[in-house]
Amino acid sequence: MNKKTILVTGCAGFIGSNLCRWLCDEGYMVVGIDNLSYGTLENIDPRVIFHRKDIRDPEIYPLFEGVDTVFHLAAKNCLIDCLRNPLETSEINVYGTVNVLEGARRAGVRKFIYADTSAEYEGIMDFPSRVDRVCPISTYAVSKRGAALFCESYRKLFGMRITVLRYFNVYGPAQDWRRVVPPVMSSFIMKMLKRERPVIYGNGEKRRDFIYVDDVNRFHLMAMNDERLDGGTFNVGSGINYSINDIFSAIENILRTGLTPIYREDLPGEAQITLADISRERTLGWEPKVSLEEGLKRSIEYIQSKVLGMSLL
Ligand SMILES: NC(=O)c1ccc[n+]([C@@H]2O[C@H](COP(=O)([O-])OP(=O)(O)OC[C@H]3O[C@@H](n4cnc5c(N)ncnc54)[C@H](O)[C@@H]3O)[C@@H](O)[C@H]2O)c1
Repeated sequence: MNKKTILVTGCAGFIGSNLCRWLCDEGYMVVGIDNLSYGTLENIDPRVIFHRKDIRDPEIYPLFEGVDTVFHLAAKNCLIDCLRNPLETSEINVYGTVNVLEGARRAGVRKFIYADTSAEYEGIMDFPSRVDRVCPISTYAVSKRGAALFCESYRKLFGMRITVLRYFNVYGPAQDWRRVVPPVMSSFIMKMLKRERPVIYGNGEKRRDFIYVDDVNRFHLMAMNDERLDGGTFNVGSGINYSINDIFSAIENILRTGLTPIYREDLPGEAQITLADISRERTLGWEPKVSLEEGLKRSIEYIQSKVLGMSLL
């Protein structure tokens, strides 16, 4: 039994809840912080010691005592919501991150891992994206950059061991399907299982690098335990991209609904292409293992059994 204590902010969200379950299965003690603004209680594994708190609140500092590693995932990350609320976005994503860094610094936490985003590359039309060039434009991306810069500053000023992970489009069980504009995989699956036509914004030719959440969790474990990743920034993507139309077809191939998508006006501020350069990550011994088809099947099974209560495929 591994008794190290790991603190996860955003533990009730999509990636955070999957990470917590993974860590509990690996034998770690897990402390979770979330204010449930987006995440839900049902997402949280019962083994997690959960604190309903806001990352902006200094009341969280005592929770860092005795913690080995912090995964900082809590953020305001719905693009449209961020665009409409820039002040709150910077408060949560920048100020909130500094508050979490402060908690970790004061308690002498061994390792800090920050959840960054491929949106940092949105202004660069040169693919695949390499970690050394960023050009954030949107409110969301700029706020995530600001937080990443504070991580860099804490690393240099205080010698903290910090790793920045730039996630591409992560998908899998517990992806939030309730949002006004839900993530593409979960929204398509939900609609198609209910025999409703899914909505595609734009012409469906935007290409995204999708990565299954279990592959991300294998990267999390490596970031936590492998000193070669200290002080570095890494792309967590698959190195392959698919158009939104491809994703619709892949789900349709599994579900055979006969439905066609509804095309609506494009959404503002969305990148046309994302594609990760993962050559450096591969040299560390990590590579994505879950194929798109397998990842979609697992996501469908989850939504069928946990959300809609239908029988499995
Ligand atoms: N999902 C992706 O594809 C993706 C891609 C790139 C980056 N990221 C980053 O990964 C992280 C996790 O993303 P996710 O998809 O799991 O998002 P999510 O919205 O499902 O989870 C974020 C969690 O943070 C919580 N939270 C928000 N504000 C808070 C606050 N002030 N105090 C405490 N908790 C708060 C929410 O309630 C939610 O449970 C985020 O930092 C996001 O920017 C995600």
